[in-house]
Formats: sequence, C-alpha cells, structure tokens
Amino acid sequence: MMYTNPLARNWTCSSTIDPAILPFHKTLPNYGPTPLHPLPQIARELGVANVLVKDESHRFGLPAYKILGASWAVYRTVAEELCIPATASLADVRKAAQDKGYEYYTATDGNWGRAVARMASMLGAKAHVYVPKVMLESTKNKIAHEGAEVIVVDGDYDDAVMEAEKVSKEKPGFFITDMAWEWYTKIPQWVVDGYSTLMVEIDEQTRSIAGRGPDLIVCPVGCGSLAQAAIAHFKHASPSAAVLTVEPETAACVMASLENGCITPITTGDTTMCGLCCGTPAFIAWPYLRDGIDVHVTITDEEAKVAENTLREMGVHIGPCGAATLAGLRKACREGKEEIYLDHNSVIVLLGTEAPRGAALDMA
Ligand SMILES: Cc1ncc(COP(=O)(O)O)c(C=O)c1O
Repeated sequence: MMYTNPLARNWTCSSTIDPAILPFHKTLPNYGPTPLHPLPQIARELGVANVLVKDESHRFGLPAYKILGASWAVYRTVAEELCIPATASLADVRKAAQDKGYEYYTATDGNWGRAVARMASMLGAKAHVYVPKVMLESTKNKIAHEGAEVIVVDGDYDDAVMEAEKVSKEKPGFFITDMAWEWYTKIPQWVVDGYSTLMVEIDEQTRSIAGRGPDLIVCPVGCGSLAQAAIAHFKHASPSAAVLTVEPETAACVMASLENGCITPITTGDTTMCGLCCGTPAFIAWPYLRDGIDVHVTITDEEAKVAENTLREMGVHIGPCGAATLAGLRKACREGKEEIYLDHNSVIVLLGTEAPRGAALDMA
C-alpha cells in the first residue's frame, strides 16, 4: 500500500536541535561517523544519480543506531535531576550521580535495552531491562553482558514496558524509553534529539559524496521516533528533501493513522522486521509524521528479505529493518517516481538501521 501527502512537499519544521548533542556524542568512547555506502547498481536500477545507505550496523560497537538516542536521553535525565548544565562532561555527571544510587528501568525487544544498559554502565549505574517472554537467550545474554539485570515478563513487549514503569516508580531511578505517551514525553523527545547526530552525519557525508544534501530520505518506521528525527532535521535544514517512510504490512500503525488522520492503534501480526513491530505511533512523533511524511509504503517480509539479499550481494550487511528502506524505495518507484519527486539527478539516502540478525548479532 502507498499513501501520499502532497502538502508535505512545502511543509517545513520549525524545531531546532540542541547544538550540544553532537559534541556530547563525540566525547563517548569509540565515537565515529558510521559509513554512508554508495549503491551505484541501485542508482542505475532506479534511474537516479545516487543511492546511498547509512550503515548503522556498528554504532559505538553496538548493532544499531539506538545508542545515539539512549545515551543523550540518559545523560539529560541525570543532568536535569542534578541541575547540571547540558554541556557538562559525562565524567562530571557520573561523579555527581555517584552517591545518589540512581538506577535505570527500561523495556526492550533487543537493541534499545542493550543501549540503555551500556549507557547506565558508563555512568557507573545499574540498568534493569524488562523483556518479553519470547526473547532469544543470546539476546538476553548480550543485554546482561552490559552489566544489566534482565527481567523476563510473562507477556509481550507492552507488558514489559508497563512492568518497567511500575517498578521504576517504587525506586530511586528513572524509567527511560523511546516510546512516548501523552503523560510521558520529555525523555522520548531527548531520545529523538539524540538521533540528530545521525542526520548531521548524513548531511556532511552526502555533501562530500554527491556534492549536495539528499533529495529523498527513506526511513523505516516502528513507533516513528527515528522518522520524527529525520523529518525534524531534513524538513528544517533542507526543506526540499522529501521523506519516504516504510513499515511492515503486518504492523502498519502509521499507515492506519495517516489514513484516519489521527493516532490509530492496531493489533500487530508477526514480522521479521522485529524492530518495526509496533502497534501505536509515538505521541510526540505523530504531528511530524502527519505533516512531514511525503510518501508512506508498507512492505512484506519477503520484500524486505529480497532487499537484504540485494544489499548483501553488494557487500553491505544490513538487517531486515534497515533493508526495508530499499524494499520501500523500490515499491514507491514502481508506483511512480514523480510521486516522490525523483528524476535522474536525484540523491537518495536509505537509513540502514541495524546489523543482520543471526548468530553474531541476533538483536531485534
Ligand atoms: C533496527 C530498527 N530500525 C528502525 C526502527 C524504527 O524506529 P522507530 O520505532 O523510532 O520508528 C527500530 C525500532 O525499534 C529498530 O530497532
């Protein structure tokens, strides 16, 4: 299915990004921009100038981009609690937080929990990560390996979220998640803000490869936080960039919401794109999705798999959530390139958000 919003073409976003975020990320161990790989065969296939894929398979040594949002959100939460300015060093925040006994509570189906656990350990603190009953043992081990306590909930991801939030209220700690509800917006907004580093890197890298910024950003969507960050950046910094978003057919809460014009929860089915398996768009993301998405498509697991294989044959190893962008781009182009404002000069960036899952990196 494909949804188009012609009004998004001229819509610009007024939100500004905190200039402290990129310098903060640069202070974290092992910071480096992730690669932006050119895909000349795909550019030829689609008849455009450049297709580039942002490869988030190794971000601070973790197999997804999530640590960008988790690190900034955890840091800001603690800094605010301690009334420390958002420009303080991580070492200063760690020192000030040392005697407070803060702990961090979150829920995850994989990458997010591992990222929060990593950040908690950088602050010398403990994370408690609530996970759904159905989670691979190896995934739990990877989260525990970051020093976190892993608590298996007798239920699904939503049950894990509720449990983490409940327990956090009884302890001197913080509930940190990337999902936003009407009553919980500040921390998810910091998560989204943290993703701005990825967008800034894309701008710089695209300019150096293609001589200018992207004409189209293709973003996978679960609850919409990453898409919110992409829209906030690209509809602000270069308002001529169009945004194409992609979600699984079996978890198409954004498609349902766009079609109804309001947040519309759905019941999700199974998908191999685990990170995109979300039944409700995030409360704070919704206005950005509604106004800033130019084109939205849903894809099947098979289409994501074909795209993952195509990328692998080109030497780019990206998991199903990231490969979904190539599948979505191909689908949108089949419907008509003019719908996404593409011509032979266009520069397209795909957000390849995760490493392949499998023996080494089996994270959802
Ligand atoms: C690998 C991967 N890509 C993309 C997304 C989509 O992010 P969002 O939920 O912010 O839309 C997720 C979310 O968990 C993810 O894990």
